[in-house]
Amino acid sequence: MRIGVLTSGGDCPGLNAVIRSVVHRAVVDHGDEVIGFHDGWRGLLECDYRPLDLDAVSGILARGGTILGSSRVQPAHLRGGVETARGHVADLGLDAIIPIGGEGTLKAAHLLSEAGLPIVGVPKTIDNDIASTDVTFGFDTAVGVATEALDRLKTTAESHQRVLIVEVMGRHTGWIALHSGMAAGAHAIVVPERPFDIGELTELVGKRFSAGKKFAIVVVAEGAKPREGSMEFNVGKKDQYGHERFAGVANQLAIELEERLGKEARPVILGHVQRGGTPTAYDRVLATRFGWHAVEAAHHGRFGMLTALRGTDIVMVPLADAVAELKTVPAQRYEEAECVL
Ligand code: F6P
Repeated sequence: MRIGVLTSGGDCPGLNAVIRSVVHRAVVDHGDEVIGFHDGWRGLLECDYRPLDLDAVSGILARGGTILGSSRVQPAHLRGGVETARGHVADLGLDAIIPIGGEGTLKAAHLLSEAGLPIVGVPKTIDNDIASTDVTFGFDTAVGVATEALDRLKTTAESHQRVLIVEVMGRHTGWIALHSGMAAGAHAIVVPERPFDIGELTELVGKRFSAGKKFAIVVVAEGAKPREGSMEFNVGKKDQYGHERFAGVANQLAIELEERLGKEARPVILGHVQRGGTPTAYDRVLATRFGWHAVEAAHHGRFGMLTALRGTDIVMVPLADAVAELKTVPAQRYEEAECVL
């Protein structure tokens, strides 16, 4: 078999572990040939690739980022993109393509699969918002980074008797905010799934100070927005790929809370530090299992499918189901955290 692999969309700890696993399973166990496209779909659309053998993936298991590079280019963004991709797959004699990506990448994978290309998807995102899989690799690493930051921020918040508003990633969902906030014992968690009321947030944080506590930590997901009419709010803009470029919810909350509470408030934006660096052991294992199963699926002709974690098993699910909707945080999970607005 000749297999093409690519990594597309925002990078994520564990991508290299998938690439390595695909090469190991395909080359060593099946005697396949593997090529890696550069910068996601761009590489496929421009026939920019390199062969991947055991040497090429040696030593990358614990390395963050992706050795193949990534971009947000998608076949649907370019005129004739699907036809170009189809032509290159035929020219290169590819029997399977394994795109590793999040929401946007998997939508493109589904589109190409519907157009008849032999696609087996692998889900990735630190945001953990892909439907059909219990967890995506990268999430555990991101939560670990955010939790460590929150732990550290508590001591400086306490020293200065401040409110720290810590912005974590999560465009559409509050998984990172919820898990890191719970793990670090944050005093308020604000998520995109529940537009917040600034009055309620002020009251929640204010109660803590009234109870004699000297500081407060608020975790907010970057995509969180206030309830209509709750406060003046700049939502930001969309970029050329339709991705939101947020105007900074933590900055806006810090200004508002400082005024309302009469306490010093500071924004802390964790940003891409959550996506960088070495993956946790959990993410390496999950990524490796996804890679192994993607190759198996290709060998069994299970195209148009996606690797997914269900409980402790890796199963194959239709790409169509995975892209139908995002996996938001269930309401019950907020109840358990007790401090989600
Ligand atoms: O999709 C993962 C994600 O980390 C989002 O939470 C975040 O909004 C986005 O990527 C940032 O992407 P970029 O690297 O393009 O700024």
